[in-house]
Amino acid sequence: MTARRRTGILISGRGSNMAALIDACKAADFPAEIATVVSNRPDAPGLERARSDGIATAVVDHRQFADRPAFEEQLDRSLREHGVEIVCNAGFMRLLTEFFVQKWHNRQINIHPSLLPAYPGLHTHERILQDGVRITGCTVHFVRTEMDAGPIIAQAAVPVVSADTPDTLAARVLAAEHAIYPLALRLVAEGRARVVGEKVVLDCDDRATGPLYSPSITQICAPPTSGQS
Ligand code: GRF
Repeated sequence: MTARRRTGILISGRGSNMAALIDACKAADFPAEIATVVSNRPDAPGLERARSDGIATAVVDHRQFADRPAFEEQLDRSLREHGVEIVCNAGFMRLLTEFFVQKWHNRQINIHPSLLPAYPGLHTHERILQDGVRITGCTVHFVRTEMDAGPIIAQAAVPVVSADTPDTLAARVLAAEHAIYPLALRLVAEGRARVVGEKVVLDCDDRATGPLYSPSITQICAPPTSGQS
């Protein structure tokens, strides 16, 4: 296997998606390794989980900086200090400006708990229940300056049931998030997700029906084995 791509994770809180990425990277054949976890909040519970796995952590507290460029400069520096090549936003609750987004163009990805471009922003599950939506899901996409927007790498569909509360729906979607985020990181780390005209072309698109996958996504997008067309 070629060298694993050094990956930095940005968090603000619980860090369950971060944990899913850390766990995926423990597999011997995973094409990425977690080089550092950076939080903008000193009290983010995810920091402790990362430390318990022996991962270097840093806090870049946005409240300590005069303006966004100063904050983003330090964020960028803390990633580069660890030789980061790919950035994963995992519940990172700061909007990033052009300054940072351009530096990591097509090398920074984010996960959002809806089928984008539907329902960007906060309180996703509440809004979905209010609207009577029957199918929701989650999306991993390359980061652009607009909130929760950018070329889509992977999505998973999740049913909404009539007894759902925002919490039960969030829990069902979160399980799907934990499945697709490592898959999306694998695709990016292996250079198999190319951005063409602001859409992602996957090298496995010809073996699937498009960028919307069922739980069998891991089989659909498994690395091609020799002899397979
Ligand atoms: C997830 O639902 C993620 O999609 C959203 O924020 C939540 C973060 O959860 N951006 P966690 O910190 O990964 O547990």
